[in-house]
Amino acid sequence: MNTSTLSTLAQNNNRKSILVVDDYLPTRNLVVEALDQSGSYEISEAADGTEALQLFKRRPYDMVISDVMMPIMGGMELLATIREMKTSTAVIMITAHPAPELTVSAMKQGAVDFLKKPFNIDDLLFKVNLYLHDSEASKCGGEENESRGLQAKKEQLSLQSYIYDEIERADGHQGEIFQTVVELALQIVEGESCALYLYDEKSREFYLQVARSNNGTARQNAIPFVASIFSEVVAKRAALIINSDGDPLIDPSLICAPLMIRDNVLGVLSVRKKRGTGVFTKNELHNVSSLSKRASLNLENNVLYESVYANLLDTFKSLVASIQMRDHYTEQHCQRVADLSARLAQECNCSPGDIESLRIAAAIHDVGKIAWPDNILLKADRLSDEEYLIVKNHPQVGERILRPVLLLDREKEITLCHHERWDGKGYPAGLSGLQIPLLARIVAIADSFDAMTNNRPYRKALSYEVSIEELKKNRNTQFDGAIVDAFVNRVLLNQ
Ligand SMILES: [Fe+2]
Repeated sequence: MNTSTLSTLAQNNNRKSILVVDDYLPTRNLVVEALDQSGSYEISEAADGTEALQLFKRRPYDMVISDVMMPIMGGMELLATIREMKTSTAVIMITAHPAPELTVSAMKQGAVDFLKKPFNIDDLLFKVNLYLHDSEASKCGGEENESRGLQAKKEQLSLQSYIYDEIERADGHQGEIFQTVVELALQIVEGESCALYLYDEKSREFYLQVARSNNGTARQNAIPFVASIFSEVVAKRAALIINSDGDPLIDPSLICAPLMIRDNVLGVLSVRKKRGTGVFTKNELHNVSSLSKRASLNLENNVLYESVYANLLDTFKSLVASIQMRDHYTEQHCQRVADLSARLAQECNCSPGDIESLRIAAAIHDVGKIAWPDNILLKADRLSDEEYLIVKNHPQVGERILRPVLLLDREKEITLCHHERWDGKGYPAGLSGLQIPLLARIVAIADSFDAMTNNRPYRKALSYEVSIEELKKNRNTQFDGAIVDAFVNRVLLNQ
């Protein structure tokens, strides 16, 4: 056996072992590939609980990641059997339907975490790393301290979970995530002050973004900034503890951790320990490091999400613009409907997220008209029955165009339902009343009002007054009456 084989074997012996159990091959492959790519784990797979147990009896695993619903033996039974074997294996359950009873029962039986399908693979990797690291840390404590170690483990897990949840809860905006990170850093270690600096790779300079001290103020002079230490964090791309050595900026101790997007350093998080409380421990370093990694993951996802989202919207808008090349009405109509819908949604107390979805959906809701031939799109006469059938198909065509896009669920729903009527006589599904999604009921009113008040190939524009009367006349037949009232009495009156 040559030396390189020996070193590979030695490495493999140090690698944590994970058993992935799922009867659905695509999910199993996804998890296995993601774990495999990290290069840190020895991975086995099984298609159900019995197969997993057979493997488990041959050797214990450090971690089992298991689906709940599987034929022959499901995940809960597998979890119970593993616990009976009294191993220290960490078990993470995966399910599409995490009912609270199921979650509680799995946690009682000793599952360390639950992941809801479809899950973000980065979340899974984060949790795997977290729980495996933790089991390692508790083993180091020695057997005589087992109960204390177990208690510490529980506390550590709940702290990590807390970090995870708080970052997840932070609004998607970068600024909000930065604030949350700084406040959390102060909470999870005995910090006196904390600051987040953004790093400009070109100039190699740091710019203060958020600063807090433990009494809630943002005291500029309490923020430690030590250029040489920050540069070291950037170079090493890892968190560091630096003890005072007489430096008043550091006194008594400082943790600096990088915030990363891909391989680039976005910024540095810096926490100083309360004076008179000793220096930071390795465990505190680990906690701040987990926090910065978790936040980095969120920031990276946001950047990715925003760029993918912006690209998609540009694509759909250019589709709408291509309809406008044939019919000048459509694009401007969509823009006006977007503005009216957003104002109406505000009057209906919709959330900012709903209003954003409405703006997008209203701008692209007629994208299905792309399937109309010119003789229908530009027709000045009454449509034949056959032509009307093609016209009525545009919500479904639009929804089909948007269907492959995972991010636009609400927008797809609005596109599909914007011609449904309150009395059930609309299309395509004939939904009625509250069955029609609220945002689609809002767009229906803005869409009709704008269509009435503008020239169409088949008729001249109606006046504002006549159009308003038309909306009122169709309260609770074509339209949701309460939303018509909000539109007429508040949106139009405030113009
Ligand atoms: Fe339409």
